[in-house]
Amino acid sequence: MPPLKCLISAGPTREWIDPVRFISNPSSGKMGYALAKEARDMGFEVCLVSGPVELPKPIGIEMVDVESALDMKRAIDEKFSFYDWVIMAAAVCDHRSESSSKIKLPKEHFPENLSMTRNPDILKDLGKKKSKSQLLVGFAAETHMVLESARKKLKQKNLDWIVANDVSKTNQGFSSDQNAVTLISSNGLEKQIYLADKSIVAKEILHAIHLSWLEKAH
Ligand code: PMT
Repeated sequence: MPPLKCLISAGPTREWIDPVRFISNPSSGKMGYALAKEARDMGFEVCLVSGPVELPKPIGIEMVDVESALDMKRAIDEKFSFYDWVIMAAAVCDHRSESSSKIKLPKEHFPENLSMTRNPDILKDLGKKKSKSQLLVGFAAETHMVLESARKKLKQKNLDWIVANDVSKTNQGFSSDQNAVTLISSNGLEKQIYLADKSIVAKEILHAIHLSWLEKAH
């Protein structure tokens, strides 16, 4: 039996305004990298699509480095149909600057109101085209109404699972070594994973999903 293949996204995206300014977010990539390493240790063949982060490249994992949301969408779309599981842990910027300059904009010419345009919702597009045999996992980074928002995204994006995390607390979520999440499945299972190292949280997430996957398979 060939190994299951798992495609994971991690880190922020970076939306350049000019060569010295960009829009991004505080994602460090730690959560996505922890998931990729745990999936590798579970025997998955792993591809990690990573935004710009300061983390060492994990061994035994195919790496695809990207910058913008459009780059990430291209990379994910290219690989998607070849993977059994797809886990979108990246913090993808929802918007980018309508125009970007090839030269540094002098401060007196920098626009007071930057006109922005929507980036594609990579995960939602995956939910529209996933096959019956594929498993699609999203994340929900929320600061309030965490579970309600996560359940809504689970449905709206046609996910099999969503990992809800409250990113308003300083000791979890973005950039921290720890996280606390609630894992919610499309058939109503909800599992709380209490504050722990992201490597432990990653293990709990993947093992819970794997167990349910095996039960469904038999
Ligand atoms: O990287 P760390 O520092 O370890 O921090 C971890 C994390 C907080 C980034 C991670 O746990 C997390 O919550 N990742 C998702 C962040 C995010 O973008 O959440 P969201 O609720 O805005 O997006 C919902 C889902 O849609 C996510 O799976 C996201 O990858 C995806 N998305 C979002 C926007 C977009 N344009 N395309 C997408 O695919």
